[in-house]
Amino acid sequence: MTNETVIVIDFGGQYNQLVARRVRECNVYCEIYSYKTDLKTILAKNPKGIILTGGPNSVYEKGAPTCNKELFELGIPVLGLCYGAQLMAHVLGGRASRADVREYGKTELNINKTASKIFFGVPTPTICWMSHTDYISKVAEGFEITAHTKDCPVAAMEDERRGLYALQFHPEVLHTVKGKEILNNFVRGICGCKGDWRMDSFVEEAITTLRGKIGQGKVLCALSGGVDSSVAAVLLSKAIGNNLTCVFVDHGLLRKNEGDEVESVFGPEGPYDLNFIRVNASERFYEKLSGVKEPESKRKIIGEEFIRVFEEEAKKIGAVDFLVQGTIYPDVVESGLGGESAVIKSHHNVGGLPDYVDFKEIIEPLRDLFKDEVRKAGLELGIPSNLVHRQPFPGPGLGIRIIGDVTPEKVKIVQDADAIYREEIEKAGLQSEIGQYFAALTNLQSVGVMGDERTYDYAIALRAVNTIDFMTADAAEIPFNVLKTVTNRIVNEVSHVNRVFYDVTSKPPGTIEFE
Ligand code: XMP
Repeated sequence: MTNETVIVIDFGGQYNQLVARRVRECNVYCEIYSYKTDLKTILAKNPKGIILTGGPNSVYEKGAPTCNKELFELGIPVLGLCYGAQLMAHVLGGRASRADVREYGKTELNINKTASKIFFGVPTPTICWMSHTDYISKVAEGFEITAHTKDCPVAAMEDERRGLYALQFHPEVLHTVKGKEILNNFVRGICGCKGDWRMDSFVEEAITTLRGKIGQGKVLCALSGGVDSSVAAVLLSKAIGNNLTCVFVDHGLLRKNEGDEVESVFGPEGPYDLNFIRVNASERFYEKLSGVKEPESKRKIIGEEFIRVFEEEAKKIGAVDFLVQGTIYPDVVESGLGGESAVIKSHHNVGGLPDYVDFKEIIEPLRDLFKDEVRKAGLELGIPSNLVHRQPFPGPGLGIRIIGDVTPEKVKIVQDADAIYREEIEKAGLQSEIGQYFAALTNLQSVGVMGDERTYDYAIALRAVNTIDFMTADAAEIPFNVLKTVTNRIVNEVSHVNRVFYDVTSKPPGTIEFE
């Protein structure tokens, strides 16, 4: 693996994972740590550079997140962004103050020092993304102002001699037109990284490391057909062949034909060397869900039943040495182990660890990767693109896309409607523009008319959202003619549906799923 690491110190801002992702897009490996992490831990990583992120606080408030002055004296280049920029000023003897107006959105940036290393190849003026109320009102000794905007006198400052750089704006956000170049200038030009973090070398090295670690050991993997577990499974199969057993629990709540698609890739007819066990457990799940209306109860039942089925299969296999988990880097960060954004998404896992699976150790081959890197690794491994680019699908599946109780008939309705919706979105070429889209069953029945017949049938809800991080989302603006085509097809082709709604609610106050 690469020896070049840049450390992102997280002060709780909303774009912090994005900072790390953008650094990795420059082919430089990068890890996120909370601002509370002690300097020793950070230095043990031998970082080539350090980036301080934005955050919601004011540096001058009592108890605001801060950093040790020593951080700026290590001889390691430091880049402060937004809160991080203000903190750099504050800690080194400058000042941050509250501005009368908040500067927010796309803003024209005027570069005072065009020869600055951080602005190499960046024209002036250029557009940057601002989101701040506090601003740097006095730079610390040794610093010069290198850019300003109409309302912000210190949009960028630096002390080139000490390798300290600060930007009030957010280069990690795509609205900053030259953001990528600016971050590249920092990690390559200023920190001197060569940029040798690449997915092909990750894949190669991961295979070698897994082989070394596992030897002739037996490995068990719960395969959902989602991107993460699929990539983990293929990586392991390349490393250890059929010492890997994958158990695929089909809970009957998958999208139309999905179970067969997963089997065609990973089963005996597919290209991979592994033991594939498909468990068709839909009846068990339908039975357990019968009459259950409350969404949290449904989630719990599905999660628990999933574990039980998996355990039963594991028992048949007997003792294994390793259990695979498809944990990825955002899971690590969000469960509070990495950065500062301690949003714990425990409900987003199907059901935690099984109580009974006889294994010695867990392996998580993707725990250092962001989602887009997992996808790249998947493509490197030759996994079909439609599988690699699959949109997120919740563990409890269609169980939480049916309001109220779940029945096999309702599952079929939502599967058919969803398949039509996906087909039409793809036909319209919109699939890569929309973050996530699916059909849900509202459980509302109302009167309609079909031919000469009065009907009393269900309404389908269509959802489509754009989102960066799935924490917030906006409804996608799907062209009306596409919505009309989808609606016509659903009411004509799917029995027991006589209305279709399009959900334009954002998150918050809605959620992405419709449960
Ligand atoms: P919500 O509905 O909370 O969804 O706005 C945010 C994102 O998380 C996905 N999601 C899940 N993923 N297991 C998962 O693996 C779950 O239980 C689960 N619930 C929601 C959802 O599809 C969206 O991408």
